[in-house]
Amino acid sequence: MALRILVVCLGNICRSPLAEGILAHQLDTLATVESAGTAGYHIGSPPDHRSVAVAKEKGLDISSQRARQFRSSDFKIYDHILVMDRQNYADVIEMAPDTQSAEKVALILSALEKEDLLEVPDPYYGNNNDFLHVFELLHQAAVAWKEKLTGLS
Ligand code: 4NP
Repeated sequence: MALRILVVCLGNICRSPLAEGILAHQLDTLATVESAGTAGYHIGSPPDHRSVAVAKEKGLDISSQRARQFRSSDFKIYDHILVMDRQNYADVIEMAPDTQSAEKVALILSALEKEDLLEVPDPYYGNNNDFLHVFELLHQAAVAWKEKLTGLS
């Protein structure tokens, strides 16, 4: 059965929609991928236009995604909960009902195994280059997760 992966950022409009699109494309039938935000500010909103644009440039259409908030019942649904930064990690872990749930949570860049590259920076107040940087980090991470999950690494 396909793995279930949830990718999480703060608003679910910049980073995790890109992560969802990129991981879903890389992992294909290996996993179903969804995304959520720890905050509720943007519930029901489409991804930020700059995320939509960088994805489109790279051949991915993420425009039909809609933001939703992370909830504690997500721990029951997903096998892996991949977060963008340490604050997301703290916010998600705080909601974990038990250690088995907490063990599902990881920084998405941890798969790169680079000690000094653990967080996907929040591009919300940034420019198009910041969104491109986020795309590239997430693409590297998606390739690494594919290797990890298929036991190729
Ligand atoms: P995201 O970026 O967590 O990558 O979706 C943000 C989006 C919105 C806000 C902050 C970060 N905000 O403060 O509204």
